[in-house]
Amino acid sequence: MKKKSSSFYIYIIALAAILIGFVIVFFIWRHDVTQAINVKIVNDALPLTDEGKVPEGEAVPEHKDSGENIDIYVTVSKSWKNTDDFGAQYDGFIKNNSVAVVYNWSLDINLPDDGTIDSAWNGTYETDGRTINVKPDENTNMIAPEGMQTFGFVMLSPEVLDIRDFSFTGHRFAKITDYPMFWSMVVLLIIWGIFVITSLIIHFRMAKLKQQKLHDEMVIDEMMHTFARIIDVKDESTRGHSLRVSYYSKMIGEKMGMDENEVKNLGYIALVHDCGKIGVPDLVLNKAGALTDEERKEMQKHTVYGGKILSGFDSIEGIINGAIYHHERYDGKGYPEGIKGKDIPLYARIIGVADSFDAMNSDRCYRKHLSAEKILEELENNAGTQFDPDIAQIMIKMVKDGLIEEMKGKADIISQEVIKLK
Ligand SMILES: [Fe+2]
Repeated sequence: MKKKSSSFYIYIIALAAILIGFVIVFFIWRHDVTQAINVKIVNDALPLTDEGKVPEGEAVPEHKDSGENIDIYVTVSKSWKNTDDFGAQYDGFIKNNSVAVVYNWSLDINLPDDGTIDSAWNGTYETDGRTINVKPDENTNMIAPEGMQTFGFVMLSPEVLDIRDFSFTGHRFAKITDYPMFWSMVVLLIIWGIFVITSLIIHFRMAKLKQQKLHDEMVIDEMMHTFARIIDVKDESTRGHSLRVSYYSKMIGEKMGMDENEVKNLGYIALVHDCGKIGVPDLVLNKAGALTDEERKEMQKHTVYGGKILSGFDSIEGIINGAIYHHERYDGKGYPEGIKGKDIPLYARIIGVADSFDAMNSDRCYRKHLSAEKILEELENNAGTQFDPDIAQIMIKMVKDGLIEEMKGKADIISQEVIKLK
């Protein structure tokens, strides 16, 4: 069974989290929120007149934030002097700054001095020492969100009082949907859901594309190897030659520091470097003895034929040059054009060395393969004349590192890839 990638589990967890998030949101949505309020508020002092009196109808003073979104003020609307004391009308209000309804409230007004209530409105009033307790009546029980409830009383006292000390209790009732934070959470959850689902779609599409790419690469690889087998079937004496030259060329490319893609392309270029042999008559290609001058010229045309066969093959850069120039020599005495040195395309120089090594290391009908010592001698002697000296040195090192022994171990694998038609 195919192993799931770790990202698969991350997506599953993310989707589960979204689902749980929406379930929680749904249940919260269905439930109202009630909250007890218990707050003590002490406002800043009212500004007093020169006589030390609370000014009538004074603007609402600043107060310390109660942290409960409840503001309470009492101001003096009017006052008068009696024979023995002062009378004043005190008007107050409770401001609800929250998004919830406040209800069943009770307000304790703490007086700085003794006072006797003469009359009162918007609630029921009870005095206990210097505390007046106000309870709402039917009409004033609910304080709307962002709303206000007024109350007031006329009180007789030794001085006009500066009332600013309150204790308030009550309940707050709201639907969760009244809170902006709730909607922020919902929006975040939706954004997160869209992000995860989009990522998931992209992930699966990328996985499909990756699979398609792997398949395409396999098709290319198998096509190139099939092409190489067609060439090797044609040339009876060098069965497996194209596969081996490709293998050696890739090794050289790796040792020259080429990247993975370059090495892969070099392998393909080497696989088909002798494809022009298809155009050489079998009598010449498979002749057991030495070739005549005319036959040799015909044989050498396989480079030009290869160039023509591959002339439409543009997707692998250098594949045409590999076929045309792999028999050029570093000293310019090669064919088909006699170009020399670095004018010979790099891939062709690499294939040239790999090609010659394979020829020396393979049995022919007219001779056995050369010994390792003889191969090393040939590579040394021809470095800088036939071969690019740098590439020849890499090949020499590969031979010294045991390439010949290694290839003996691969003989079976190579032969399995070579098709024998008869
Ligand atoms: Fe060749």
